Amino acid sequence: MTTKQDSWGTRVGLILAMAGNAVGLGNFLRFPVQAVQNGGGAFIIPYLVCFLLMGIPLLWIEWSMGRFGGSRGHHSTPFILDSFDKRRFWKYLGVFGIFTNIVVAAYYCYIESWTMSWVYHTVAGTFDGKTQTEVAAFFGKYVDLDKSFTGIPYEPIVFYILCLALNTYILSRGLSGGIERVAKLVMPMLVAFGIFLAFKGITLQAGQEGALFSGTLGLNFLWEPQFDSLGNLNVWLAAAGQIFFTLSVGMGTVHCYAAYVKKKDDIALNAMTAGWTNEFVEVLLGASILIPISVGYLGIDKVIELTKSGGLGLGFKTMPYLFEQWGDVIGTMAGVAFFGLLFFAGITSSLAMGSPWIAFMKDEFRFSEKSASWTFGLVVLALGLPTVFLFNYGVFDEYDYWVGTVALVVFALTEIILFSWVFGLNKGWKEITSGADIKVPLIYRPIIQWVTPIMLIIVFVGSLITPEGGDWTASFQSMMHGDGWILSDGSILAKLQNQDIYHSLQAAIAAGDEEKISFLNDKKLYVNGSRIFLTIVYGLICLMVYKAYKNRKNKKTEEVEA
Ligand code: PHE
Repeated sequence: MTTKQDSWGTRVGLILAMAGNAVGLGNFLRFPVQAVQNGGGAFIIPYLVCFLLMGIPLLWIEWSMGRFGGSRGHHSTPFILDSFDKRRFWKYLGVFGIFTNIVVAAYYCYIESWTMSWVYHTVAGTFDGKTQTEVAAFFGKYVDLDKSFTGIPYEPIVFYILCLALNTYILSRGLSGGIERVAKLVMPMLVAFGIFLAFKGITLQAGQEGALFSGTLGLNFLWEPQFDSLGNLNVWLAAAGQIFFTLSVGMGTVHCYAAYVKKKDDIALNAMTAGWTNEFVEVLLGASILIPISVGYLGIDKVIELTKSGGLGLGFKTMPYLFEQWGDVIGTMAGVAFFGLLFFAGITSSLAMGSPWIAFMKDEFRFSEKSASWTFGLVVLALGLPTVFLFNYGVFDEYDYWVGTVALVVFALTEIILFSWVFGLNKGWKEITSGADIKVPLIYRPIIQWVTPIMLIIVFVGSLITPEGGDWTASFQSMMHGDGWILSDGSILAKLQNQDIYHSLQAAIAAGDEEKISFLNDKKLYVNGSRIFLTIVYGLICLMVYKAYKNRKNKKTEEVEA
């Protein structure tokens, strides 16, 4: 294989790159919002349990699968999975590990480009003197692609392309010369910015700098455990979803990075170091910025209300206004630190998303690092432009829901079945522990074999049929009475049927709101269109895998004949 010579420069570099892969926008934007939406202290215990029982096992599995495949010359999941069992279909399931990454990269880089733009606007003073409503309106116009209200024509598109180009350029410099270098540079800065902001958040005093409450009010809300919520399946589903997203498991990026670890090197300890670093950043830093600051100024109820409409609002619509309350100097510093930190967190993750595609093109089609990287940039651009242009029609959310959420669980389930059951736990355990610099606790054997897969199945089935209002008992009763199961709009089955759009449409028709009706009809079109589009993309990658498989077979016969 052409890529054999690629590897990580140093162990520290590898760990920082892996930690950079995991630490992302999810830690600072998604986590606090999930926590608030799911009742603060009610969320944190299921979250930590999911980390121990699903996150850690999957990290070990993915790292060891990666190293195993890498030592056989495979660096992306189609052929990594293929090396674990001779049945042919695994490689087409392995397509998830490329597909998910390019699709998530498409919308993830869009948010990443906002952070660049928000740093610029913080420095340029765009938010100065604006009211909270005005800052929120700025965001609205931005994603609406209002032509030139910011002073830069087509600014969102300019920043998006800039952001993609930067990612592509770094990727084209290779593993140790690009990704590892950037991780070593930005991860320490990210932590420094995070500590500064967390310090400001925690020490926020009621009555000072215009704050109504102390920062600790928000922290208490998050950290006061509420044991009665442990029986609430929806909180568990949300916690599991967050663990997946934040650790980047079920994606294929961990496999890919680990495929460049040498055969005899440790993975058990490395996986833990990177995983726990992510948790440190998430539960210590991520929890101490957005929530304490926004609760300090707005109070718990208002923050809960603001997060109802999704996660991005709080960060981009509210924070710039709150930072203004700290005066010119500190306010600007805080704004730059916050959006700069988001940018650093984002870019080390989007670089990870680029690597499986690049590895695949290099391994199978003999592309050079450079040209493989540029194909990544172009593919992501093609996938991403619909999310930019049709943001308000929900295309962005479609990508995030089907690929950034559902596909992760499906792929995780696939790989754990392959690893623990088809390949077999005995062999799998040997893979995890070989070269290990720590003693992997034996309790993880039954966890990997039973607990994690069962939890994954529960999560999947739970998301498939989540009942209306999260009320499982009521739905069971309704079913018993022959009235059928009442699906929540957010469940997978309801989403498939566009139940949410249908409900809004009914309401709009009842209100006679013509404009809304035509908007919703368009939305339905774009939503369905994007699903078809994504399915085609999956199919195309399958075709590429098929072609690669044929190439390999031909080469083998040639070698045998020679
Ligand atoms: N873990 C990253 C975050 O928290 C997101 C990510 C997902 C990165 C998948 C790489 C792959 O934002």
